[in-house]
Amino acid sequence: MLKKCLFPVAGYGTRFLPATKAMPKEMLPLVNKPLVQYGVEEAIEAGLTEIGFVTGRGKRAIEDHFDTNFELEQQIAGTSKEKYLECIRRVISDASFSYTRQGEMRGLGDAILQGRRLIGDEPFAVVLADDLCLNEELGVLGQMVQLYKQFRCSIVAVEEVPREQIHKFGVIAGNEIKPGLYQVTDMVEKPPAEEAPSNMAIIGRYILTPDIFELIRETPPGKNGEVQITDALLAQAQRGCVLAYAFKGRRFDCGSVDGFIEATNYVYENVYLPEQARIDAAEKK
Ligand code: UTP
Repeated sequence: MLKKCLFPVAGYGTRFLPATKAMPKEMLPLVNKPLVQYGVEEAIEAGLTEIGFVTGRGKRAIEDHFDTNFELEQQIAGTSKEKYLECIRRVISDASFSYTRQGEMRGLGDAILQGRRLIGDEPFAVVLADDLCLNEELGVLGQMVQLYKQFRCSIVAVEEVPREQIHKFGVIAGNEIKPGLYQVTDMVEKPPAEEAPSNMAIIGRYILTPDIFELIRETPPGKNGEVQITDALLAQAQRGCVLAYAFKGRRFDCGSVDGFIEATNYVYENVYLPEQARIDAAEKK
């Protein structure tokens, strides 16, 4: 069954320079929690507790974040500050973490292929942590795991985006087999608006069956000279079945400064403040 989730985090995060010069963009905090922790919590909620990271140079802070800091633990043990570590302690105890490196930035498809060492021959999920997905009920990965149990094939999460933004995404065409679920017939990476097969953009949540690895290996570099997962997925769709799922919830593009600020404001109001109120109420009891 599905239990592994891969986080490709080898990118440079150039849009956030100089903040990301010596620090991974995945560690930028949305209020008080690094971006990557939201993704890991979504994976754990979906029952995916074996977390694999495909990292690169300068990403050590991610390893340290998902590890116990004994000095810090000792320092704050028994004080009122312990509550601030609660949520990361929970993540560390609920999941296991492993790491491999992508030696050269050759694209998302290549990053996923490097993750094969951590995944083996099983279906797995992929999360791009810079897409923050929030839903009041079950998270996006949880929704996709439910679909996987039913259909047992690769699934990509999609969202309708305005035409003028479509050139930034992988775009699908498909036949709707039930409301919000499409069997993919075509996929193009970052097409010009006039060539896009639809306005359904692929966002950073995937469930992939392990035959994808061989398909990636056979995929020549595409757009921007990078090995594109979209090209390998199209080959998979042509041989068998790939589904596109219009998820329930909200996505924020935290890989862009505007999206990051929008997400920060949203999380402060809708996640951070209610959580603090809950902690305060529990303390008063
Ligand atoms: P992006 O291109 O959006 O991220 O890749 P980036 O390169 O880090 O950011 P900018 O554009 O320079 O600001 C999408 C995701 O794929 C991963 C990135 O880490 C990011 O999570 N990725 C991309 C890799 O791990 N390896 C690659 O070769 C390419």
